[in-house]
Amino acid sequence: MSELPDHTAVNRSYWDGMADQWVAAGERNWARSVPVWGQWGIPDTQTTLLPADMSGVRAIELGCGTGYVSAWMVRRGARVTGIDNSGAQLATAARLAHEHDVEIEFIHGSAEAIDKPDGSYDFAVSEYGAAIWSDPYVWIPEAYRLLASGGELVFLGHHILTSICAPPDGSVPISNQLEQPYFGQYRQDWQEADDDPGGIEFNLTTSAWLKLFRDTGFEIVDYIEIQAPDGAQGIPYSISAEWAKAFPSEQIWWLRKG
Ligand SMILES: C[S@@+](CC[C@H](N)C(=O)[O-])C[C@H]1O[C@@H](n2cnc3c(N)ncnc32)[C@H](O)[C@@H]1O
Repeated sequence: MSELPDHTAVNRSYWDGMADQWVAAGERNWARSVPVWGQWGIPDTQTTLLPADMSGVRAIELGCGTGYVSAWMVRRGARVTGIDNSGAQLATAARLAHEHDVEIEFIHGSAEAIDKPDGSYDFAVSEYGAAIWSDPYVWIPEAYRLLASGGELVFLGHHILTSICAPPDGSVPISNQLEQPYFGQYRQDWQEADDDPGGIEFNLTTSAWLKLFRDTGFEIVDYIEIQAPDGAQGIPYSISAEWAKAFPSEQIWWLRKG
């Protein structure tokens, strides 16, 4: 633990400690024949993070949690590695892979430093894994290194608007006002949050993401801001459905290594 960057160590304890709360959702998602995405369960027919045909594709999921995105990729024909920082999350993933008779290589480690040679993968994906829990200035270049030329990286996480509408004391739900400065957004530490103490997350301003992709060498294939569907209800994960119908709560970046 002492060798890990502080956010990686904090997030490992955080996720190991609450992995049992993610088992039921993992089981539901493993059982789905058609994926749904993000906090609002956007149907794969509307917005997707995966190519329809992944036959022969070498794929990696960065922060795979219970492993259901990895399973969806295997079912589309890919050979898949899932890496995760939490041993407890991986224990659920390994059990579900066994029960569903799906072959996935699981690695316990951080998406910021992956013990695989350059160019090992054709496709990398993260849904709320490295996408929000890893330092973008480290994991984005690491994903680039791992991809072969022409390989793609797709990731889904919070939209930066959710960070600046989050009250600094961590009370929830997030508000309709600008609660924090936009410029300088980078590391969000929720360990001392009032309502729902958490781990250490990361997000960047839109121009900072663009600069990082450019500096790393990625081309942008697509950028999607997700709107909650009409039928969405409640306040899952501190963002109300009403908020997310009016403002983008999630974003997807689709990048290609030139
Ligand atoms: C919300 S889950 C993502 C999996 C799944 N798509 C989901 O939405 O439930 C977040 C996962 O990211 C993992 N994680 C956090 N930091 C990480 C890192 N540096 N490298 C790899 N995984 C990390 C956590 O251990 C956790 O299992």
